[in-house]
Amino acid sequence: MSPWPSTSRRSDDGTLTVGGCDVRDLAAEHGTPLYVLDEHDMRTRARAFRDEFGRAFQAHGARCEVFYAGKALLCSEVARWMHEDGLGLDVASGGELEIALRAGFPPEKIAMHGNNKSVQELTRALEVGVGRIVVDSLTEIALLEEIATRQGSPARILVRVTTGVHAGGHEYIATAHEDQKFGLSLASGEAMKALTLAHESAALDVMGIHTHIGSQILSIEAFRESAHRMLALRSEFALATGHELPEVDLGGGYAIAYLDEDESLTPGRAAPAIADVIADVMTSVGGQWPTFSIEPGRAIAGPAGITLYEVGVTKDASLDDGGTRRYIAVDGGMSDNMRPVTYGANYSAQLASRESLAPPILSRVVGKHCESGDIVVREAHLPEDISRGDLLAVAATGAYGRSMSNNYNALLRPAVVAVHEGASRVIVRRDTLADLFRSDVGPEEFQ
Ligand code: LLP
Repeated sequence: MSPWPSTSRRSDDGTLTVGGCDVRDLAAEHGTPLYVLDEHDMRTRARAFRDEFGRAFQAHGARCEVFYAGKALLCSEVARWMHEDGLGLDVASGGELEIALRAGFPPEKIAMHGNNKSVQELTRALEVGVGRIVVDSLTEIALLEEIATRQGSPARILVRVTTGVHAGGHEYIATAHEDQKFGLSLASGEAMKALTLAHESAALDVMGIHTHIGSQILSIEAFRESAHRMLALRSEFALATGHELPEVDLGGGYAIAYLDEDESLTPGRAAPAIADVIADVMTSVGGQWPTFSIEPGRAIAGPAGITLYEVGVTKDASLDDGGTRRYIAVDGGMSDNMRPVTYGANYSAQLASRESLAPPILSRVVGKHCESGDIVVREAHLPEDISRGDLLAVAATGAYGRSMSNNYNALLRPAVVAVHEGASRVIVRRDTLADLFRSDVGPEEFQ
């Protein structure tokens, strides 16, 4: 499956274009490295989740809402798109919440996450009236109860459940097995205990249960199993209390393609399969259907984004087997894409600023940081004649690229430019030296 944005093409002279924009013009106007976000691609994916899940659940007379997981990529413009396209928003910190509010995102369509939310974060979330707070621990339940009592209005919550389903592309992004920091365990009875406590509290309005089993998940079976366990818990709670929880959130985690040979888990395939298993469970446990929700992040933003880099130094290194590997150094690296060094993630790259008929050779795209692990694309076969000044494009960097970026080695984080029908607009500015200096208390201030 192609990891490139749906509007990417080669123009007649062989240059890559995205959203109708020539990458050479984008680099000339906005500089490199540059995150390029295909607006049409991202919004089409958002609407596909909304429509496919809406339809699949509608077929059973039920509802499924989609919350975009802002941690994948969040700025005012992205928040505006998601709102216009009818999605809610999942935020994972006070900072993400403030970006959403600044963008005018309706607070009642925001869900607030976090395994260790601060008193300030909880207070602010209640003050602005976020739709749901997803509570992650017994400690948080007690804390929230206190704050909500003080503020005089009940907090609407979902209880985050650890279902024991182990899924996810890498250990660090699997989140619902037992031995990790998120949620309240189903197996140990903690989830039930939390639900009961919260249900008995006048300060908390328990709207339902939430789970997120991990990220970059290809297996529909994992989602089906998790839905099954969640509904069993809901039914157990209804038996014990007579109260049918009105909502079940099944989290995000839908896998995308990073390489041509990768598969993805599309909403068109996932939605009916998940809705069907839910229908089976509901038939056997009986009772009212809850409203469902899901929280995809990567599958909406990821494939819509590419990163453009300019090539600097190239070098050949000898391999033990007698072969050679071409090292192609670009003007960014592990500061604009943490995923290769963090998860060993692989990416696809192509020469973007021209066509080349030179034979492809074994290459590694590396960054400009002072670490040998600073790899952008571990293994690629790229034209032998790539040289200084060429532009390279790396696919599927829209999610967890800019959002996990940093200023290591005092590099300036790249801009995000949205492209659409031949026009480009900066939606996140490139860092400047002034941004670096703002946090550094300068010598004149010590005098
Ligand atoms: N909901 C919750 C509660 C989450 O924790 C996450 C992701 C999502 C939704 C969205 O998951 P997605 O659909 O994007 O897979 N930095 C890692 C991914 C970490 C995901 C954390 N939580 C990466 O770059 O692979």
